[in-house]
Amino acid sequence: MQKLAILISGRGSNMEAILKSIKRKKIPIVPAVIISNKPNAAGLKIAQRLGVKTEVVESSGFKGERWDYDKKIVVVLEKYAVTPKNGLVCLAGFMRIISPQFIRKYKNHIMNIHPALLPSFPGLHAQRQTVEYGSKFSGCTVHFVEDGIDTGPIIIQDVVKVKDDDTEESLSKRILAKEHKIYPEAVRLYAKGKIKVSGRRTIIKS
Ligand code: GRF
Repeated sequence: MQKLAILISGRGSNMEAILKSIKRKKIPIVPAVIISNKPNAAGLKIAQRLGVKTEVVESSGFKGERWDYDKKIVVVLEKYAVTPKNGLVCLAGFMRIISPQFIRKYKNHIMNIHPALLPSFPGLHAQRQTVEYGSKFSGCTVHFVEDGIDTGPIIIQDVVKVKDDDTEESLSKRILAKEHKIYPEAVRLYAKGKIKVSGRRTIIKS
């Protein structure tokens, strides 16, 4: 079976949704390790409660280049046998930009979730920007990670209607509920070998 690593920095609710889906035998993948760049990330406790190994690769105060930090992550991935050959790395609220070297090494084996319909509103505060812009629809996107912020072939998107009285918080809440559905589904498709990448597009085999 393929091995999964999830990188987090905080709350870890997407991580939890994925791990619970694996527990319910919905996704044929081994949850090998959860890695956080912050020692106090709440998600670490959730992972431990769910019986999944955790590691911290502290980033605060790290002085080297981006790739120097990412190499430390790769060491942990290799320790848990999450390799580009048999593994998937999910970024789930991991608040760091990862290096081109890491991306190249794990090309099409790193996924991310973003709380907007990419390519609209990449980067931080997507939900706030959506409300301020006055968009009528938003949603969330799971995509493979490429060089660039929130770019890379899109795997799944889902739509959320923006209400007239939505605030950043209320919209974020409804988007998050959809994130918890599409991220486990994207991991399931991956684990079942159903995602083919063709240029910018992904083709989902039935
Ligand atoms: C989510 O909104 C995700 O889309 C974004 O960061 C947030 C992480 O939340 N990338 P959580 O840690 O999974 O609860």
